[in-house]
Amino acid sequence: MFTDLYEDLINKTEKLSLIGLGYVGMPIAVAFAKKLDVIGYDLNSSKIELYRSGVDPTNEVGNEAIRESSVQFTADESKLRGAKFHIVAVPTPVNDDHTPDLTPVKGASEILGRNLTKGSVVVFESTVYPGVTEEICVPILERESGLKCGTDFKIGYSPERINPGDKVHRLETIKKIVSGMDDEALDIIAKVYELVVDAGVYRAESIKVAEAAKVIENSQRDINIAFMNELSIIFNKMGIDTKAVLEAAGTKWNFLKFYPGLVGGHCIGVDPYYLTYKAEMMGYHSQIILAGRRINDDMGKYVAENCVKSLISANKSVKGARVAILGFTFKENCPDTRNTRIIDIVNELGEYGITPVITDPEADSDEAKKLYGIEFEDMSTIKKMDAVIIAVAHSCFTELTMNDIGKMFGEGKKVLLDIKGLFDRREYEKAGYSYWRL
Ligand SMILES: NC(=O)c1ccc[n+]([C@@H]2O[C@H](COP(=O)([O-])OP(=O)(O)OC[C@H]3O[C@@H](n4cnc5c(N)ncnc54)[C@H](O)[C@@H]3O)[C@@H](O)[C@H]2O)c1
Repeated sequence: MFTDLYEDLINKTEKLSLIGLGYVGMPIAVAFAKKLDVIGYDLNSSKIELYRSGVDPTNEVGNEAIRESSVQFTADESKLRGAKFHIVAVPTPVNDDHTPDLTPVKGASEILGRNLTKGSVVVFESTVYPGVTEEICVPILERESGLKCGTDFKIGYSPERINPGDKVHRLETIKKIVSGMDDEALDIIAKVYELVVDAGVYRAESIKVAEAAKVIENSQRDINIAFMNELSIIFNKMGIDTKAVLEAAGTKWNFLKFYPGLVGGHCIGVDPYYLTYKAEMMGYHSQIILAGRRINDDMGKYVAENCVKSLISANKSVKGARVAILGFTFKENCPDTRNTRIIDIVNELGEYGITPVITDPEADSDEAKKLYGIEFEDMSTIKKMDAVIIAVAHSCFTELTMNDIGKMFGEGKKVLLDIKGLFDRREYEKAGYSYWRL
């Protein structure tokens, strides 16, 4: 029943579907549509309308690629019946108490289950803890479809490694881990992904191995960044510039290149909680992973406190101080503001009676308004500031000259917080600035 699926997809007698067309699902759909017939389903019908009108709100593939793509965008779940190879790429956020929120994954499994036909292969791409695919998704698929996993349909898992805003590391150029419930499923899944991933695939030995591999990739980054943040706190107390220390230490061949910073978004700051949740269920209380999370989650507050200290040393009154924040997204050159930790700086400054002005030409301003009630100012209106916090390394900020930055300030000492260390500390200090960075 499954033996001809690959050929049927190539010959376009069968279709591939994407369930969830966000930062991950959309580029996959567009890439596969160059080779296969693709149905792109999302339950958000306004997003589907945008795609149909040729707009890419994620900026991952661009409007032109969407307009030219043959993906059949739909918000009608029954269209999924027309496909035999399904890829699920729905969000996997955490709840306020940091436990996994599997509502979208379960919801997508229900929708797909209701529309699953015999002979299908289902691949989950959402980042999860080991066991979610087989222990949570499969029972839902079986219940909703009335079909049996292993005989009527097969499953696999292939984690996504794309990096929004990164035009070098793309779906096509990153080696992709694939896994399947048995050799037959693995073979089909590997061959299908090989159609679009030029860098090739890595066949993991089981679905759980593939799930675990993804979740530790991001946990490893989180822990390493937490270590850098801890160093930054220590060196700040000692009056030593962390960036200078890291540059010096980085001359050793095996010193890892990580930098301090805010850890936001819906991957690095979230995925570790999936792993620690599952560990907790197994009776193990994580120590290193959760310690890293705590440090990283507190960095926004730490930046705001240092802004206040810098204002005080510059003889400026704190309450009502005019502070500008440049950048609001969770990472550079990307419009995504979900789970941005810049909001922690905003909230903490609010505790000191400061309402910062925020500018971000890259950010999705509608999303920021909806999620945080924040309205951005145009960068040209940033003037007469007491302090400026450069929070995100968007290209439009890295290109700023000292002259551009100087024009943003009013009377008195210019207090500059360059969180990402974009500028030359010594030059700014020489020019009389109060300069601070992580
Ligand atoms: N964005 C990244 O950088 C990245 C990288 C690697 C892995 N991931 C993982 O990939 C997964 C998807 O992330 P994303 O960034 O694309 O999320 P996203 O929020 O950008 O997109 C998810 C899409 O799924 C849709 N959706 C939600 N529930 C649905 C349902 N029941 N049926 C159909 N559609 C549904 C949403 O409307 C949205 O359009 C997550 O598990 C994430 O952790 C993301």
